[in-house]
Amino acid sequence: MSYPKPIDDQSYFINSSNYQNLLTQASKNPDAFWLSMAKRLNWIQFPTRGGNWTFDKPVSIKWFEDGVLNVCANCVDRHALETPDKTAIIWVNDAGTTTTPISYTQLLKEVNAMAGALKNLGVQKGDRVIIYMPMIPEIAYAMLACARIGAIHSVVFGGFSPESLSGRIQDCNAKVVITANEGVRGGKSIPLKANVDQALLQTPQVEKVLVINSTSLNVPMVAGRDRFYTPDHTKIVAPEPMNAEDPLFILYTSGSTGKPKGVLHTSGGYLTYASLTHQWIFDVQQDDIYWCTADAGWITGHSYVVYGPLANGATTVMFEGIPNYPNPDRLWKIIDELKVSIFYTAPTAIRSLMQAGDEWLETSSRKSLRILGSVGEPINQEAWEWYFHQIGQENCRIVDTWWQTETGGILITPLAGIHNLKPGSATQPFFGIHPALLDEHGYEIDTYPCEGNLVIKTSWPGQMRTVYGDHRRFEETYFSQFPEYYFSGDGARRDADGDYWITGRVDDVLNVSGHRLGTAEIETAATIDHAIVETAVVGFPHSIKGEGIMVFAIAGAHSPHSDEELKAIIKRTIRTQIGPIASPDAIYIVKGLPKTRSGKIMRRILRCIAKGEFEKIGDVSTLADPSIVEHIIEVFSAKK
Ligand code: WTA
Repeated sequence: MSYPKPIDDQSYFINSSNYQNLLTQASKNPDAFWLSMAKRLNWIQFPTRGGNWTFDKPVSIKWFEDGVLNVCANCVDRHALETPDKTAIIWVNDAGTTTTPISYTQLLKEVNAMAGALKNLGVQKGDRVIIYMPMIPEIAYAMLACARIGAIHSVVFGGFSPESLSGRIQDCNAKVVITANEGVRGGKSIPLKANVDQALLQTPQVEKVLVINSTSLNVPMVAGRDRFYTPDHTKIVAPEPMNAEDPLFILYTSGSTGKPKGVLHTSGGYLTYASLTHQWIFDVQQDDIYWCTADAGWITGHSYVVYGPLANGATTVMFEGIPNYPNPDRLWKIIDELKVSIFYTAPTAIRSLMQAGDEWLETSSRKSLRILGSVGEPINQEAWEWYFHQIGQENCRIVDTWWQTETGGILITPLAGIHNLKPGSATQPFFGIHPALLDEHGYEIDTYPCEGNLVIKTSWPGQMRTVYGDHRRFEETYFSQFPEYYFSGDGARRDADGDYWITGRVDDVLNVSGHRLGTAEIETAATIDHAIVETAVVGFPHSIKGEGIMVFAIAGAHSPHSDEELKAIIKRTIRTQIGPIASPDAIYIVKGLPKTRSGKIMRRILRCIAKGEFEKIGDVSTLADPSIVEHIIEVFSAKK
């Protein structure tokens, strides 16, 4: 099947007249290229240096290091001056009853008030502030208010449990938490304040909790510690001048080992990259209404709901709810109502709405759309086709954007006015991005087509700078397996045209509904209760979530529990340790796990079983107890 070639439309930011030239500039003289890109921001002091980095140990990454700016002033103040009445944010509530436009003038007023409140709580430049909130406008105010005063925010997604929240608070040693009395998603209440109270039992370092009353629910307050937020619009808080390399935020993400890592992003490079990629990849023009459905708790929410769009003075939609509530036509109706022209979402949402049936498309025309984006996981052909034919009605270019929390912004993607559409391929690297595929020995593969480990050879301004408080772990995780390259942890294929196809993680990280979860984290959580001795967690193909979570668990020797009880215990402990987003999709209670004689679990075998591909298991003679494989297959098959 062929898809329309790009229309040679010179009104696209990136078009046939400038593409090649920019590509050449970016690779021939990256410092000059990125310095010229940095001009899109307002600097207090414009940098003279581009990049100063090495992927050799000790790894060090700096961009625009002698520049001074304030991220909030760039996202808010300058637009409040230049386009005061333009809508910055359109907020849509969960119930679908309220649509609130917030102009750049109002945004400045609200962010300023929130910054004042943080100052009153004693928050200073460099302090860490945890934000644990629903998708209400105040979450953007809180992020920007931190940026305004130079505090480092760390947003924790509302779907994480008190236990996860306290782990993050401890890791970054936060002294203030901003939360809401409750969150509402899909009509369900999320007890955010109660979760904070529970988390804080283990984190005495938190001095103050700022509570936004976003519903009428009354919540208990701890005297001296907790304060309701009442905006004071009278005091002006000037934006703090920040060095380009001063930290902007920490965002926790799962890896293949240990507890989640605090990915640290800094100010000047991150904002330049988020803003540039947002404008050029989505071709965001003056009058566009742009909507990215991500929650601010994830990197996509940071870069492409808040920082990128606002830095560009765009209109960004913020949605409190979920795609299928109250009905699976919710997103499409919002698109019509707000005349959304650019829409960015995840394959998991596309698949679940596709499964709901095409009758849900009859209540909307979606005529305002011109560009569609996809992010978070590989998009399967069927979902891509539906997105293209049904949602976009063949009038929209699709940008399948590959990137990570660590990369700060999109690295590989088609550009609307340039690349041919190829369902399932993220196609080509963005300007100044140099990917390579390595074989298992670390050699670059330069044949076409080919497949290998996806690495990036040179730095870009949006790259993470370190793992907060653990630079060694940063080097170990990303620069050790393949020295002198940034290793993404993903595998990819490159076709004969040189287009990239991301095949998924090659490490022990699962991608469940576009959310990253480490198998090790889930295993640790599942064994907190002594009823369970050991577990092994693997992913398996799931028609909606992309990947589902499968747990193989061994019960204690004299366990008084039935298998059903054990499964309930596992579900409960995972939900309390990590959160509902890590709930397993399948659990099997088994007598043993496939281990080598040295005790290492052979996950490869479990992955084959999870997929039902028993024939691919191969030789099991090196296992300490080869018969265990047959037993596991039996348990697995019996429960199907
Ligand atoms: C996966 C989300 C295929 C990938 C921005 C990556 C993708 C992980 C794509 C990062 C895509 C993201 N096609 N896979 N277009 N985009 N991924 O940190 O495995 O939450 O490593 O960042 O999502 O997830 P993260």
